[in-house]
Amino acid sequence: MVQMSPLPPEQALQIRGASPQDAAALATVMATRGGTPSDSAPAAQRLLEHAPVLLVAELTCSDGSRVVGWSGATVTSLRPQEAGQWLTAGLTVVPELRRSGVGRCLLQAVVDAVEKLVDGPLHSVVNARNAPSLALHRSLGFEVVDTGPCFAGIEFDGGAGVLLSYRRPGAPRPRLQGGPLL
Ligand SMILES: CC(C)(COP(=O)(O)OP(=O)(O)OC[C@H]1O[C@@H](n2cnc3c(N)ncnc32)[C@H](O)[C@@H]1OP(=O)(O)O)[C@@H](O)C(=O)NCCC(=O)NCCS
Repeated sequence: MVQMSPLPPEQALQIRGASPQDAAALATVMATRGGTPSDSAPAAQRLLEHAPVLLVAELTCSDGSRVVGWSGATVTSLRPQEAGQWLTAGLTVVPELRRSGVGRCLLQAVVDAVEKLVDGPLHSVVNARNAPSLALHRSLGFEVVDTGPCFAGIEFDGGAGVLLSYRRPGAPRPRLQGGPLL
């Protein structure tokens, strides 16, 4: 899976499936959101072993290649007692490369990968304060379907999270638990 971003032409971005050799790089990118790579190593290993979709963004330039972002998808219960639903995971770009199109390439690649596996909806949960992530999701066709203090076991810093669902152009609007669409 290869997609190009609007990075300078001498830098090539590849979105590809993560492999066990990416464990340390994945933990390093995860740690850009807090903590150390060692703190993130167990979570990176769990994802490598269990996530049905796990993608990394690899940037190649004249000095070599490095992993600069990751995202994936898991099947996770959005609320207690509910059946698992497809949910995006992670979506992180190293700070120095943000706003270069890497996040959009990664999230689109996750959407494409999940669409190849299942027909049903793909969800994301985002902190209501995370304007960049919300704007990115909306730009790719995700729609807000609910808001609340906790989804998928995540209690949101600031108290409010947003549940979004990806809707393929032309597909019926997502509706969760008969609740109202926002
Ligand atoms: C959210 C995140 C993944 C976006 O990645 P990115 O590579 O910077 O995003 P892109 O450059 O692909 O931007 C795509 C679109 O997202 C929106 N966006 C991205 N950063 C934004 C910002 N700082 N402010 C407003 N909108 C932003 C814009 O709509 C942008 O499109 P545009 O550049 O054409 O206007 C990145 O900011 C990040 O890693 N944040 C920290 C971790 C995080 O919060 N992850 C999301 C968890 S749900």
